[in-house]
Amino acid sequence: MPDRAIANSVLDLIGNTPCVSLTALAAGTGCRILVKLESANPGLSVKDRAANQIIADAERTGVLKPGATVIERTSGNMGTGLALACLRRGYKLVVVMSSGNSVERRQMIAALGAKIVLVPQVTGGPGEVTGADLLEVEKVTDALTKKLKAFRADQFKNVSSVRAHELGTGPELWAQAKGKIDVFVSVVGSSGTFTGVSRFLKRKKPTLRCYVVEPKNAAILSGKKRVAGRHKLQGLGYMEVPQLFDRSLVDGYLTVTDTEAVRTARQLAKLEGILCGFTSGGNVAAALRIAREAKRPLTIATVITDSGLKYLSTDLFPIPR
Ligand SMILES: Cc1ncc(COP(=O)(O)O)c(C=O)c1O
Repeated sequence: MPDRAIANSVLDLIGNTPCVSLTALAAGTGCRILVKLESANPGLSVKDRAANQIIADAERTGVLKPGATVIERTSGNMGTGLALACLRRGYKLVVVMSSGNSVERRQMIAALGAKIVLVPQVTGGPGEVTGADLLEVEKVTDALTKKLKAFRADQFKNVSSVRAHELGTGPELWAQAKGKIDVFVSVVGSSGTFTGVSRFLKRKKPTLRCYVVEPKNAAILSGKKRVAGRHKLQGLGYMEVPQLFDRSLVDGYLTVTDTEAVRTARQLAKLEGILCGFTSGGNVAAALRIAREAKRPLTIATVITDSGLKYLSTDLFPIPR
């Protein structure tokens, strides 16, 4: 962005997010935990980067024509990012989502002018979107894409998702840490973040280790046999291996329970002043485990994927009685 002081569009404010060392939470571990605050993006999540990159790349390659309709199935964050990109770049947006996702996500997307098609849940409870729910959402999205002759952003297959992080998040993190990173950990949804950041960091430092973080009940990527599927980490763990996932970058898999993710998100708020959601709690819980078990001082980097403001209707931050 040419001028940080005055931007011509909120899209110019995507990326260049701050990075914070968790000095309170990591105290006593002998390690440094760095978190990139993707919650500071205009749509309050990491998905702004992928959304804007998908639309920009599709415009550049001529796939997306002026005034066209864009469509996507999303748990909410991609929908918010696409809503921003579409409204500023002049496209109509249709977002298809499961009714299991938090209500704030729907409100944000609607406020940003997109049309929302809500698909009733098949199996999960509130806040628990399962693989079966996703299949239903996929069916509706597919049919609507054809009917509306829309451009499908296709975050789970579109390589622009990875490019956004290979060109943005990875290099920013590397520069902010001045090249002092030993480990990167990340949850995986479309895998844009994990694949893009890991690819860039490993190119810079081949000995750097990259770990996938998965919900304990949906540890599909690590090939766990018994999987229940239900979990609170909205935005990932859908029981399918995303096409963009690059297994050659993985040094190991860590699982986190809902309880660990929730506890860590609450600690991030109380001890660090970082208000974030479930998956960020999962990322930091995994980073803390590595820090506690480390045999030497390590710098571990991860991502605060979205803002806790997106979860105020859930049980993540209960009102004290
Ligand atoms: C809250 C949250 N965390 C993590 C992710 C995963 O990010 P990625 O799709 O880059 O793997 C998503 C994806 O939508 C998300 O919404």
